[in-house]
Amino acid sequence: MKLLIFALFCLAGPVLVPAARTNEREQLFTVKRLISRLLPGKEDLFELSVSPICLGTAKCYNLRVREGRIQIFGSSGVELASGLHRFLKNACKSSISWRLTGGNQIDTSCLEAGALDVSSLDVYSERSTPWSYYQNVVTPSYSMAYWNWSRWEQELDWMALQGINLPLAFTGQEKIWQKAFSRFNVSAAELQDWFAGPSFLAWQRMGNLQGWGGPLPQAYIDAQAELQVKILERMRAFGMTPVLPAFAGFVPNAIHDKFPDAAITQLGNWGSFTEQYCCVHLLDPQDPLFRQIGQAFVQEMRQAWGHDSIGYYSADTFNEQSPPSAEPDYLRNASRGVFEAMQAGDETAVWIQQAWLFYSDQAFWQPPQIQALLEGVPQDRLIMLDLFAEVFPLWNRTEAFQGVPFIWCMLHNFGGNLEMYGNMKALARGPADALQEPNMVGIGLCPEGIETNPIVYDLMPEWAYREEAIDLGAWTKDYVVRRYGPSTPDSAVDAWDLLLGSVYNCQDLHLDHNQDIPVSRPGLGPADVAPLGLQPRLWYKPEKVMKAWSLMLEAAQELEEQSTYRYDLIDVGRQVISKAATALWKDVCQAYEDKDLKALSKANADLLQLLDDLDELLASHEGFLLGPHIEEARAAGNTTEDKSLFEFNLRTQITIWGTGKEGDSEVHDYANKEWAGLLQSFYRGRWSMWLHRLQADLVRGKEYDAVAVKKDFLSFTTSWTHREEEGFPLQPSGDTVDISRDLFKKYGRDDEPFTSLQMLHELSEVPKNSAEGQALLSVDEMR
Ligand SMILES: *[C@@H]1O[C@H](CO)[C@@H](O)[C@H](O)[C@H]1NC(C)=O
Ligand SMILES: *[C@@H]1O[C@H](CO)[C@@H](O)[C@H](O)[C@H]1NC(C)=O
Ligand SMILES: *[C@@H]1O[C@H](CO)[C@@H](O)[C@H](O)[C@H]1NC(C)=O
Ligand SMILES: *[C@@H]1O[C@H](CO)[C@@H](O)[C@H](O)[C@H]1NC(C)=O
Ligand SMILES: *[C@@H]1O[C@H](CO)[C@@H](O)[C@H](O)[C@H]1NC(C)=O
Repeated sequence: MKLLIFALFCLAGPVLVPAARTNEREQLFTVKRLISRLLPGKEDLFELSVSPICLGTAKCYNLRVREGRIQIFGSSGVELASGLHRFLKNACKSSISWRLTGGNQIDTSCLEAGALDVSSLDVYSERSTPWSYYQNVVTPSYSMAYWNWSRWEQELDWMALQGINLPLAFTGQEKIWQKAFSRFNVSAAELQDWFAGPSFLAWQRMGNLQGWGGPLPQAYIDAQAELQVKILERMRAFGMTPVLPAFAGFVPNAIHDKFPDAAITQLGNWGSFTEQYCCVHLLDPQDPLFRQIGQAFVQEMRQAWGHDSIGYYSADTFNEQSPPSAEPDYLRNASRGVFEAMQAGDETAVWIQQAWLFYSDQAFWQPPQIQALLEGVPQDRLIMLDLFAEVFPLWNRTEAFQGVPFIWCMLHNFGGNLEMYGNMKALARGPADALQEPNMVGIGLCPEGIETNPIVYDLMPEWAYREEAIDLGAWTKDYVVRRYGPSTPDSAVDAWDLLLGSVYNCQDLHLDHNQDIPVSRPGLGPADVAPLGLQPRLWYKPEKVMKAWSLMLEAAQELEEQSTYRYDLIDVGRQVISKAATALWKDVCQAYEDKDLKALSKANADLLQLLDDLDELLASHEGFLLGPHIEEARAAGNTTEDKSLFEFNLRTQITIWGTGKEGDSEVHDYANKEWAGLLQSFYRGRWSMWLHRLQADLVRGKEYDAVAVKKDFLSFTTSWTHREEEGFPLQPSGDTVDISRDLFKKYGRDDEPFTSLQMLHELSEVPKNSAEGQALLSVDEMR
């Protein structure tokens, strides 16, 4: 980290601030308003200034305390907000986190006159790389599809504090697509079978599917476009550079019909959808029509939403879809075509592309293919997102993207699943290793879903201003105190030391997918259960998490008032209980195999009780409730029809996801959530149905009927996704600490060998025939 003592500046006396230009003044006021939301009543303690002048060429902030006032200087609004966050972390031992993961812990006593330790606060800090990028292209659909402006405002504040200056800004683009395609005589009505519902827009935008979850109401399209105007205004007012969408080649069926001579192919079936929803048309980037559509889209967007001095655009033509040809010459032409279409609409265009394709289809993307794709675009007009760098970095496998600028991104989360997970060691040093490459231009946070694992999102953004590997032990100690406040007892610190060495020390390439029994589709063998044939896995010693749970409980007296503490206490208990379900499930399978009716009914009852217990625990914190999510989705619509459609979209995404030819999709349960309400109503319902069938089979001496079982699931799920307004609680209920104590007695046994955990270890062998197994195998082959 660059930590020049402010002495350099002090020589010149007080901070010299050139007269702010309008833009700088706007950034200043925007940060002032952030402070009044974050620290109401404390605005006057801060003396802020924005000016582009730093010591070096980098972006910077400067922080000091003089006469009881906190002076922060930043080269932009984001830099200023980063300085403020640094101040809150260092001087006030505070933490900033999403409301649902416990919210902010800010002890404002640090702001009192005598409390400020002046000497430790003279900080001048420069960015180690220019950019902090944020969002995965699917985050808008997993986490943001139904947000209103006040929720967006909170997120934009969060981004500014985390130093995010290159955020993806995908909201409301359907309005622009309507305008662009109307130039080609495609009406809004003709786009109805193309746009997906709000929970599935990300995959339609990427050409993975079309129309699913739709038709998208015009009112939603208009409302999102209005929201985007506000979002962009705020991003720019902070001094952020939004990353806007651009044309990647996917076209509605109507374009195919109207331009029969255009070079249009149909993509393969992603996720095994039915014909109506699959196999999107792709216009070849070399076709002249490609450039016309791409240009029209960017022009319409700039007209509607204004523009930045340099335009950054996101487009992914071959994400999880193999290109029609592996010929390097074709791929070079294709990427040139995509870029030139952007450039035709905006002379300054820089293309930001996810490198995910090189990971997800390693067989196709061999060195010549990678090289060709990168070569098609001038080097200073392309930035590659090394999307999954904390687990599977590509920069060190591709000769640093052959010199093309790249951003070291953490992906961390898949499908918005909830589990305690992180590869903290990689996060603590990965960016430092990559910084050796002169073409690393940023760090990124690219989770599929947000509002999980706050520790991970506290550490990663710090890399904006760091250069050297982080001492994780010391950092975590400090984090725990920041998260829970001044009365944090040692037991909480010790608990986190154990969590750091267990759930947050995942180095076996395991992805952050909750594949545990509660959220998995019931079945007799591992292959039947979890999404994509995945299965429960342990990448850590469960005894450590068990011990962490008991230590967290010891801290209850001091911390029970803290929402951050209650969130974490639940999360640890949730992790233990969720894994413990594997043992109970194996008991069920064993009893069934032994045709032991008595043992089966006991095992069934235990498993259902576990699901009830988990639901009760989760119900005690707002961060683990289904109700508010449904409420939020319904609130995004103004008519009964729209409200129903949005609730259906949400329910579908978190359960069956899609429906395919055999009624099922490959990605069922991919976006599962351990949320109170969902556990009780959906997961428990599904397990209970299956367990009853097993009992009935034994009584009647029937064979296991896998086909009938699957039918059961489909009809249960389909009817569940169409249910509405079931009154899931909007507020937490029950006392987290009391519930946790009770459940610890039951599931937290570390005094006797918890034999069933042994089985979970056995299950943890890498499944060779699963998607994850295959990914791991190909990783091995690459080595
Ligand atoms: C916006 O949505 C949040 C939930 O995300 C809700 O709590 C709040 O009341 C909503 N605000 C308005 C003004 O509707
Ligand atoms: C749109 O339709 C009009 C009227 O039929 C026609 O003149 C024009 O060429 C069409 N535009 C495109 C881009 O096909
Ligand atoms: C709902 O109504 C409000 C107030 O008229 C409007 O601002 C908003 O755009 C509408 N949203 C939708 C999705 O219809
Ligand atoms: C690539 O583009 C060049 C120049 O337009 C063209 O001559 C060549 O045939 C194209 N190659 C392929 C494989 O499409
Ligand atoms: C790239 O870095 C990762 C993470 O440090 C490491 O596991 C892998 O072996 C490296 N690969 C190569 C080819 O250097």
